[in-house]
Amino acid sequence: MDYSIHFVFLILCSKCIAVNIRRLDVPALVELGTESVTLDCDYSTGVTPGPGLVLKWFFNGSTGLVYQWIPPMQPQVIGLLKGKVDMSFKISEEPLQAYRAIKIMNPSTLLSGNYTCVVSTFLEEDSQTKSMLVYSPGKDFHFHQEKKYVFLVTLICAAEYLYPRPVMTILSKGKPLKSAVTDMRMDSWGMYSVETQALVHDDDVTSPWEEFVCVLSLPLANYTVNRTTIYYPGLMPTAHIAAIGVEKPQEHQANNSPTLGRCTLLLTFLISLNKVF
Ligand SMILES: *[C@@H]1O[C@H](CO)[C@@H](O)[C@H](O)[C@H]1NC(C)=O
Ligand SMILES: *[C@@H]1O[C@H](CO)[C@@H](O)[C@H](O)[C@H]1NC(C)=O
Ligand SMILES: *[C@@H]1O[C@H](CO)[C@@H](O)[C@H](O)[C@H]1NC(C)=O
Ligand SMILES: *[C@@H]1O[C@H](CO)[C@@H](O)[C@H](O)[C@H]1NC(C)=O
Repeated sequence: MDYSIHFVFLILCSKCIAVNIRRLDVPALVELGTESVTLDCDYSTGVTPGPGLVLKWFFNGSTGLVYQWIPPMQPQVIGLLKGKVDMSFKISEEPLQAYRAIKIMNPSTLLSGNYTCVVSTFLEEDSQTKSMLVYSPGKDFHFHQEKKYVFLVTLICAAEYLYPRPVMTILSKGKPLKSAVTDMRMDSWGMYSVETQALVHDDDVTSPWEEFVCVLSLPLANYTVNRTTIYYPGLMPTAHIAAIGVEKPQEHQANNSPTLGRCTLLLTFLISLNKVF
């Protein structure tokens, strides 16, 4: 065997264990409003780290470089993460490890996606990918009734500022109401609002009253919440006395007049319930 081949083989072999990602720490789920989230790429460089050690983070594939660190220089934040990273954050005091992690401040839903860490020397490279979902449990989730006709009630469930795509169902005795109709909207930031309505006939309520459940979930975020409303069949429509309730103060709802109207309706409905019983 030729001497030079031996030599090359030896060099390659000392390098081939040089760079190795031990653990990629990217939280799978982050709730919107979380103060900060740290993505860590824990690697080993072997006994004598090869020259040209470079650490890079990519978002959603190889074209989305978001972070680059070439020790001993300062790290650089690029593209999507610009202005969102705590530049003073150091995960380790070791010169070849210090800036391997990214501390993202106030992560938004737009930062949901795949994060890839690539560590390389001149000869070797290792990479790993994990996905992170920044979900928004939404706000103003409410479930109420509109009683405009005798024998009929409209159940209305709504929520807004949700991410990712929500699912909303109205349950009657534990089963989804087939008559329910869902309206889903997405704003220019990608946030969803959803409203589900169902018309229920008094004949379908077989007990003196029924508790309906509205279930809101974000399947990809493993997130589920619900609200309930109780309907008493046989009541007269209450819409005609809606005006009485207008003076009732509606905290938290001042900038949402359609909801205000419906809440007022519900209020007057409850008032009329009190009168009946
Ligand atoms: C993110 O990764 C998953 C699998 O890990 C893949 O199916 C998906 O296409 C990736 N998305 C992007 C935008 O790269
Ligand atoms: C990144 O990829 C995810 C899917 O993996 C996608 O939902 C998201 O919109 C992508 N983000 C950007 C900014 O391209
Ligand atoms: C959601 O929950 C299921 C079952 O508990 C689990 O297998 C899955 O990993 C969870 N998904 C996420 C993103 O945490
Ligand atoms: C509604 O949420 C409560 C907890 O808040 C839970 O105990 C109950 O099982 C949920 N109901 C349905 C129908 O999902």
